[in-house]
Amino acid sequence: MIAEKVPVTTQPGPVKPKRASQLKIIPAAKELQTVVERWRRGRKKIGLVPTMGALHDGHLSLIREARKTCDRVIVSIYVNPIQFGPQEDLADYPRDAKRDIRLLRAEKVDCLFTPTDEEMYPAGFDTRVVVNEKYTKPLCGESRPQLFVGVATVVAKLLALTRPQRAFFGQKDYQQCLVVTRLAADLNTGCEIVMLPVVRETDGLAKSSRNVYLNEDERRAAPAIYQALKLAEGMLQVGERNPQALLEAVRKRLRSESLIQIEYVSAKNADTLEDLNILAGRVLVAIAVRLGKARLIDNSIVAVPTGSGSK
Ligand code: PAJ
Repeated sequence: MIAEKVPVTTQPGPVKPKRASQLKIIPAAKELQTVVERWRRGRKKIGLVPTMGALHDGHLSLIREARKTCDRVIVSIYVNPIQFGPQEDLADYPRDAKRDIRLLRAEKVDCLFTPTDEEMYPAGFDTRVVVNEKYTKPLCGESRPQLFVGVATVVAKLLALTRPQRAFFGQKDYQQCLVVTRLAADLNTGCEIVMLPVVRETDGLAKSSRNVYLNEDERRAAPAIYQALKLAEGMLQVGERNPQALLEAVRKRLRSESLIQIEYVSAKNADTLEDLNILAGRVLVAIAVRLGKARLIDNSIVAVPTGSGSK
């Protein structure tokens, strides 16, 4: 007898409650800590993306990586006054909360932390986090002596408030990544600092909230920064090992755009930020320029085989 084929029915298994992926907007540190504690008790892996808002694709690349690799994603938007110098653009820094919130919802971010200054630095706040000046004094630290004390202090607070297993930063601010990696390890935060590549416009200009400061002519000149980095990469690849020769060529490329004012052009050991007599190992080529009202930075890291080179 041929067995009758029994139609297979799919049993509706136990219904898993869908996690409400609603963005919680939290301005208060206490409330944030309560949410974080609940997530930690539930063994959720928390990812933090600290930003100053005016979000662009560079920020979104960090958020997407956090979303991919963590159970809960917290984005902070806080224009941190203590990392700006008195003559800098704190008052003019672009802000667009409505648009930012729309973007965060689309990325399925779990929590947006948007503290006020009083919440972050209440009356009586009197602590600064100082990372060794080996990392904070050169490059951007020369013209912005307050920058990395301000960054280290706010990031230490954000790590303490959100207790993330991973925090995401962009290579565009490479020196900031070094500073934050040092402090996260030294303060036993247990947080892994993840650095992600620079996201660029199609013409190579690194995405930045400050690009909105550029007028049409300045915007046309701006890709010279990326082209100068590409020139340096090419020179390293064909064996240039003399830092002076490399840096002079980079400066010359930048000077071909009359609107660009060079703040620094530098080649350093990417791990220690020490100067190099010979370009070898992991070489950081870093540029900071002024272009109109904007101060723009960019960099490239090239792995140069030690002992190679034709020059
Ligand atoms: P902000 O300039 O808003 O940048 C937030 C994060 O986005 C930083 O880690 C930065 O390196 C990254 N980022 C910016 N432009 C990027 C790009 N084109 N490609 C990839 N990543 C990019 O950096 C800060 O804020 C602040 O100093 C902060 C860390 C929030 C402390 O106040």
